[in-house]
Amino acid sequence: MSDIILQTQQLTKEFKGFTAVNQVDLSVQRGSIHALIGPNGAGKTTCFNLLTKFLEPSSGTILFNGIDITRERPAQIARRGIIRSFQISAVFPHLTLLENVRLGLQRMLGTSYHFWRSEKSLHQLNDRALALLAEVGLDDMAHEVTVNLPYGRKRALEIATTLAMEPELMLLDEPTQGMGHEDVHRVTQLIKKVSAGRTILMVEHNMSVISNIADTITVLQRGAVLAEGPYAEVSRNPLVMEAYMGTTDGQLQGAH
Ligand SMILES: Nc1ncnc2c1ncn2[C@@H]1O[C@H](COP(=O)(O)OP(=O)(O)OP(=O)(O)O)[C@@H](O)[C@H]1O
Ligand SMILES: [Mg+2]
Repeated sequence: MSDIILQTQQLTKEFKGFTAVNQVDLSVQRGSIHALIGPNGAGKTTCFNLLTKFLEPSSGTILFNGIDITRERPAQIARRGIIRSFQISAVFPHLTLLENVRLGLQRMLGTSYHFWRSEKSLHQLNDRALALLAEVGLDDMAHEVTVNLPYGRKRALEIATTLAMEPELMLLDEPTQGMGHEDVHRVTQLIKKVSAGRTILMVEHNMSVISNIADTITVLQRGAVLAEGPYAEVSRNPLVMEAYMGTTDGQLQGAH
């Protein structure tokens, strides 16, 4: 299989004459952590919405594992293994952590519900759910009600429910948004950990997160790709620095 898991060609989205995503060519390397950055309104979330087909592209092509998925429906795209966290995997506040992850697993099994009617398969589901909670460091809280979790832990739970969908490509839109230092650090390490054997495409404003874990960065500005490369390269790019000018000290940093 090719090293490129996801490729967009000239991907474009227009809203009534306004071009939010403008002929974007994106190549995401299999097994990498790829960050999509850019000032507010650059088109990052719109890009994600196009990739999951939450929005219909105006033009351009999306290839996943070499297959043209541009015209596929959101459910088909999820089945292929493109899973966006914090959307498909919303968590239910009044269920326990275990129940939330189990629901993710049940959703995966979908129509084959005979599978989990028997006592034995319920146990198997529990075991798998516990293993996923352990993967994000929440196994000791499995029977807590989700609403009682601190914010950072809730984000970790959302990652566990996303993992339940067996993503080959995980899309994370601002996974550390609204977090304090400690949670940012914890979730960053978690993303790094769960990236093993998977590919991650993430929108992130926090530059220290990006410089720590992103292999490749694509910078969007007004819907178009401005620069692409590893952090060391992109952060020195004069065009990128200029795009981020107007922030406090003109350094490459997030707008949030
Ligand atoms: N449904 C829509 N209809 C019209 N305009 C839209 C729609 N969705 C997004 N836009 C516009 O497209 C542009 C890109 O928005 P988008 O949300 O993709 O930016 P972003 O890079 O995710 O920004 P942020 O960093 O603030 O999250 C913005 O100007 C936005 O107002
Ligand atoms: Mg956004």
